[in-house]
Amino acid sequence: MSLLSTIRNRFDTALRQLTSDTAPMLELIRPVQDPRFGDFQANCAMSLSRHLSLPPREVAARIVAGLRIDDLCETPEIAGPGFINLRLRDSYIASRMTAIAGDERLGVEPTERPRHVVVDFSSPNVAKPMHVGHLRSTVIGDAICRTLKFAGHRVTSDNHVGDWGTQFGMIIYGYRHFVNPAAWQDDPVGELARLYKLVNQLSDYHDNLARYPGLAEAVNTAEQQLQRLQHNPDPDPGKAQKLASQARRQRESAAEALAAAESVIDSVRSRTELLALAESHPAIARLARDETARLHGGDTGNQNLWNEFLPACLSALQRIYDRLGVRFDITLGESYYNGMLPEVVESLKRQELATISEGAVCVFVDGNKAPFMIQKSDGAFTYATTDLATIRYRTETLQAAEILYVVDKRQSEHFQLLFRTAQKWGYDRLQLQHVSFGTVMGKDGKPYKTRAGDTVGLESLIDEAISRARVIVDENDDRRDVPLLSPTERARVAEIVGIGGIKYADLHHNRDSDYVFDWDRMLATTGDTAAYMQYAYARICGIFRRLSLDRRSFRAGDPVLITGPEERALALQLLQFDFAIDSVLSDYRPHLLTAWLFETADKFSKFYDRCSVQDAESAELRRSRLILCDFMARALHTGLALLGIETAEVM
Ligand code: ARG
Repeated sequence: MSLLSTIRNRFDTALRQLTSDTAPMLELIRPVQDPRFGDFQANCAMSLSRHLSLPPREVAARIVAGLRIDDLCETPEIAGPGFINLRLRDSYIASRMTAIAGDERLGVEPTERPRHVVVDFSSPNVAKPMHVGHLRSTVIGDAICRTLKFAGHRVTSDNHVGDWGTQFGMIIYGYRHFVNPAAWQDDPVGELARLYKLVNQLSDYHDNLARYPGLAEAVNTAEQQLQRLQHNPDPDPGKAQKLASQARRQRESAAEALAAAESVIDSVRSRTELLALAESHPAIARLARDETARLHGGDTGNQNLWNEFLPACLSALQRIYDRLGVRFDITLGESYYNGMLPEVVESLKRQELATISEGAVCVFVDGNKAPFMIQKSDGAFTYATTDLATIRYRTETLQAAEILYVVDKRQSEHFQLLFRTAQKWGYDRLQLQHVSFGTVMGKDGKPYKTRAGDTVGLESLIDEAISRARVIVDENDDRRDVPLLSPTERARVAEIVGIGGIKYADLHHNRDSDYVFDWDRMLATTGDTAAYMQYAYARICGIFRRLSLDRRSFRAGDPVLITGPEERALALQLLQFDFAIDSVLSDYRPHLLTAWLFETADKFSKFYDRCSVQDAESAELRRSRLILCDFMARALHTGLALLGIETAEVM
């Protein structure tokens, strides 16, 4: 049983004498960061005092009186308004550490209540190049899958690729009119990306051209309004100022919209051949939509093209997943559900959950203004319909108990509507969670782009990470009197440092927040980075190597001794790996694991500074410290592995 559960159990017995509902009280017992307050703190007296109408300190005293915990802790202290502070006995920490030292799972017991969880992540829209925005879902989703599995759950990772959307109409149109056969032979995915971009650009051109007069008019109106206010201000000066600044803002945003349209138009006008294409394809946007509709309607020509495009797109994706070390149990894209969509709509209509609104079939969800549209007025099914069919499949065929969607937070409204609709539709015992995340930003505070303003392709991002890491790896190894790594080994280490760096930088932020992409910080060998952890791991491996000791032979049997505060702090921290895993899984936040790793690495470095391993006072102490070192190395290795990050023994 985990350290925390052991303590909670003891409290449970004591609390039962005061209340029958102990579970929420037990939640209030947690590890504390500040050693002045001991190792654990129980905050249940305050909330219990309200139920019992007794002063909290009195309640705390009663809890402590009923508590049998002497074998684990020093005498509990009651502090402040009624906190109960617990300090573990050194002997108890030592004996627990000794007990798990040889454990493959580092003391983490598999869950008693395994669930089958489907994790829907990565899920890019294919036929567009995969970019940095897709990285977050891929990296976070993969870390969640690995952690769930380690905890003993059954996991099905599912890449719900967007392989049926409007982008296919665009590339079909592009292919029919603009394909460069040599480029298509040579690099089909590159050519498809070019076609996609081209069709998009030409449609945008016409779209902006059509909107231009209206936008110009809006600037005019805003300007006139501003002048009116200047000539004829409101008699109340405060109000006049407010109105004027409002009008200025309006003029500014109208001018910005106009400038944006101008820049789209200019980007085509400035290139004669592009302008000629644009002029000979004035209805391109509509025609591309028609191609999508024909594809969905079963048109053979379009389906053949789709069948030709798709494998190329998927294998380009696969190349990236292979480099990232990410794998999926299934890749069932949107197209897989196509045949099921009519029955989804029928079923929702039969249950009178869907109604016709302005020709479209919609589900109205209480408290939400926007309806959930499951069939458009032209008969087309939507992203929503597919997601409903997917829920049905995952529940009925895959038998999932829980589904996680690791998707950008901009889609949160979609998922709210989806979950409510699914619930009403009858999937009310299924756990559904949108594991949302923020945007990857550049140092300029805007979404991360290349200097030319394009989204950053994933392939080139990975290449750059590895080549930057290689510089660091070379420098490190060259500094040694005798370098340890061959060129192949250096390349391998650069790969794990580069890719580990990208992943860790993403994972160590709370997923809801936007994070700034910063190469230097990401690959630094000090601070809260993958490289720091990876080098710490290699350094510990080096200790054993220099002593010509087999790490495995140190794992079990000998006792761990606690002889000072650094040893104590490290051992206590290592004993709480299971708590870190539980916290990650309680709301699917991998940064709680990186935080644990960083904290652990910090405690280790303090321990290693103060406590000599090689020249320990006695053979027993030396062995005990080596056990801690080995456990630490495995904690780093396992913790990083749960985040999808590799380690190397020599680097
Ligand atoms: N393909 C979608 C996009 O790129 C994400 C899909 C997420 N998963 C889902 N079941 N809706 O925006």
